[in-house]
Amino acid sequence: MDMASESYSASNAVDGLHLEILRDGKTVQVPMNELPTFQFEDGDEISLLPESEASKWPLTEFGARHVYVDGQAYRIPRRYIIAEYKGFSLLEDLVELTGGGMGNFAQIAQMHLSIYHTYLGLRPDMTVLEVGSGIGRDAFEFIDYLNSDGRYIGVDITRDSIEWCRRNITSRHPNFEFHHFDSKHEMYNPLGKCSSLDFVLPAEDNSVDRIFLTSVFTHLFEEEITHYLKEFARVLKPDGLVYASFFLYEPVAVAHAAKQPTGLKFRHPYSDGFFIDSPEIETAAVAITDEAMTRMIGRAGLTNARPYLRGFWSGITDGAHFGQDAAILARATSPSNDVAFGLLPSDFDGELYLRLHPDVKQAGMNPGDHYLIHGRREGRRYR
Ligand SMILES: C[S@@+](CC[C@H](N)C(=O)[O-])C[C@H]1O[C@@H](n2cnc3c(N)ncnc32)[C@H](O)[C@@H]1O
Repeated sequence: MDMASESYSASNAVDGLHLEILRDGKTVQVPMNELPTFQFEDGDEISLLPESEASKWPLTEFGARHVYVDGQAYRIPRRYIIAEYKGFSLLEDLVELTGGGMGNFAQIAQMHLSIYHTYLGLRPDMTVLEVGSGIGRDAFEFIDYLNSDGRYIGVDITRDSIEWCRRNITSRHPNFEFHHFDSKHEMYNPLGKCSSLDFVLPAEDNSVDRIFLTSVFTHLFEEEITHYLKEFARVLKPDGLVYASFFLYEPVAVAHAAKQPTGLKFRHPYSDGFFIDSPEIETAAVAITDEAMTRMIGRAGLTNARPYLRGFWSGITDGAHFGQDAAILARATSPSNDVAFGLLPSDFDGELYLRLHPDVKQAGMNPGDHYLIHGRREGRRYR
């Protein structure tokens, strides 16, 4: 990350700068004031020139420059590449921000939905809120899943992703809405003018059934996470649930990770219960101890609805549900724990349940979890 100057301001002049677009072997010069309306085309190679001026502006992962034009921050990728997906034209630069690419885009999205189904229970008429919705990887799955009574609310700090989702998803699916939070983040929004602490989630109190965050708490620290958790406690319905992936800093996991030739190590203590992988880009990957998670969850008025789901990031694959660890949270004062994950009937027999329901065994799910999340509602036999 190149942060040559920390003194960017919306009034910084970009007069000395212009864009040079290489298209079909020809170059086109574009003045900066035309950037907001310029029609990029698939295959455009983009240079911000002159380099001596361009290098004064922040450069983030995957080579995008960030500049202000007329007081508005813009992300300028090196290439404008379009990838077709489910009838949408996605921008590859924004797809890369998910941490994956087009090669595993659909697979990861389907896995996310399957996890939400399995561990939180979903209904097509639910109101779901996703923080860090990105280019809409999960939203595309929810388009197929939610019915017209269902509602999807996405929020993110990457303006270009939110703008893209509004133009392309909301225009066709009005029950899908997207909101930009202009929060400063060294990897995603280096010219942001606010902090996440300034934001109020765009939802009424007690109005949201499920909240999802995948690979978001892996890039944030205590104050921002606690703020979001407090907002979750406010907007969740009494029986609402949150799925938040994160890296759990546990001795067994970090010791195992240390032995792997590549991958995350979290060798650097950052703050009380927080460890980082890279001192150069502190927010690139953040791990959190159980103690720190418990502190934040408790302060926010939430509680763990079940033990953490483990991830295979450290190389320990036994019992892992996906790559990162995850917390499933409910309001501390709500009936969620009893409703969704409460006590099993005293005569519940897990082995018998698996014999009676081979689909549960095949899914590899714990019989008790399955009964509490799905089986009870579906009226499944357990004895
Ligand atoms: C690794 S990407 C994951 C995107 C998406 N969840 C997915 O799986 O496709 C992390 C996302 O979190 C967003 N993000 C980072 N900090 C955030 C914050 N404080 N509030 C909301 N979104 C944030 C980034 O802009 C980015 O879109």
